[in-house]
Amino acid sequence: MNIKFLNLGMQPLANEYPSFVTKKQKKYNLNICFNTKNKVVSISKRMRSEKMFNQKYPYRSSMSKTMKDSFKKLSRDIIKRFNPNLTLEIGSNDGALITNLNKKRVIGIEPCSNLAAITKKKGFMTYDEYWNFNLAKKLKKKHGLIDLIYSANTLTHISNLDEVFKSVNYLLNKNGILIIEDPSLLECIKNNAYDQFYNEHVYVFSALALRNILKKFNMDIFDIQKLKTHGGSLRYFIKKKQNNKIKISNKVFKQFIAEKRFGLEKLSTFKKFALNVKSSKKNLLKIFEKLKEKNKSVVGYGATAKAVTILNYCKIDNKFIKFFLDTTPEKQNKLLPGTNIRIYKYSKKKLSKENFIFLGAWNFKNEIFKKEKKFIKMGGKFLTHIPKPKIL
Ligand code: TYD
Repeated sequence: MNIKFLNLGMQPLANEYPSFVTKKQKKYNLNICFNTKNKVVSISKRMRSEKMFNQKYPYRSSMSKTMKDSFKKLSRDIIKRFNPNLTLEIGSNDGALITNLNKKRVIGIEPCSNLAAITKKKGFMTYDEYWNFNLAKKLKKKHGLIDLIYSANTLTHISNLDEVFKSVNYLLNKNGILIIEDPSLLECIKNNAYDQFYNEHVYVFSALALRNILKKFNMDIFDIQKLKTHGGSLRYFIKKKQNNKIKISNKVFKQFIAEKRFGLEKLSTFKKFALNVKSSKKNLLKIFEKLKEKNKSVVGYGATAKAVTILNYCKIDNKFIKFFLDTTPEKQNKLLPGTNIRIYKYSKKKLSKENFIFLGAWNFKNEIFKKEKKFIKMGGKFLTHIPKPKIL
């Protein structure tokens, strides 16, 4: 049974950046639920994929050095550890991973045609289609079975998990490997990172929940890597049960134990999290109000989907934040959804007269601190809500 434990209020679509100030942007009520049976945490309202992932999708994986480096390293590791003949990436975005692999041995799946066009142009085989069973059948006919399927920050965006894993299972070689990486529910709850929830993140997985989902498809997690990306992610290595040449690593059992100890199988843990979220909202607003009273300027850094959740939930708008800066061309000169805060092209100069930076991309804190040494030297300060609202 799905039980609602957190109401994040009325929210716009997180990646729908309006061009003009408007009160008309459509909003929906964002509720988060816990499934007492399979322990899956998800949002209650599901949007149609076509509404979110289309030819105008603005998110680009290659916009941060941290992500680019992480994918580069992974591509080397994949070759060294598994040496697949044919790799398929579900959600290849602008090619942050596939462009590191041999063109003849990798296929990208990317339904957002504006992004698929980027990798197609570079000569990488890319299907601008949604991941589903029909596509899996088409791919099998054309390319045969796949040795390695990879997907980062994508499967949690697809509502119908049954179809997702049925299709993976169908297309994967019997000794094939599935690697998925997504934000970790354990880190999300520990950091009070309630901004991991928005219309696109239908699920935030725990290893325990993923194990329960995979059971139905006779698949096992055999290894886990902890990643720093997206505020703490897990990279799961998954195999078919019938492949008994691969042993299950101790790291997998350790993760299950850590999650059980923390209470990720209990509704009470999520009820407590909801209380922490409410108090985080109060405290963040207090800081913003104080800074406004003192006439301090605050600008946002990283116009993320996460920032959309926080600011809409906390009712922080252009009265509190002067503007946002972002390196993504598709977001520039638009407004952060639901807030009327304008987003400008990133430049160091734009920061020179400002007092505070609100970290919309808190998950890239280290990368940003390194980049903004001058701002810090000039007395500029950072404001974050992770793990607690505070000035850094
Ligand atoms: P991400 O945290 O992956 O966002 P989301 O919550 O939408 O999944 O995206 C980071 C955003 O921050 C992206 O729009 C690019 C931007 N960004 C900058 O503008 N400058 C930077 O130095 C970094 C690291 C990110």
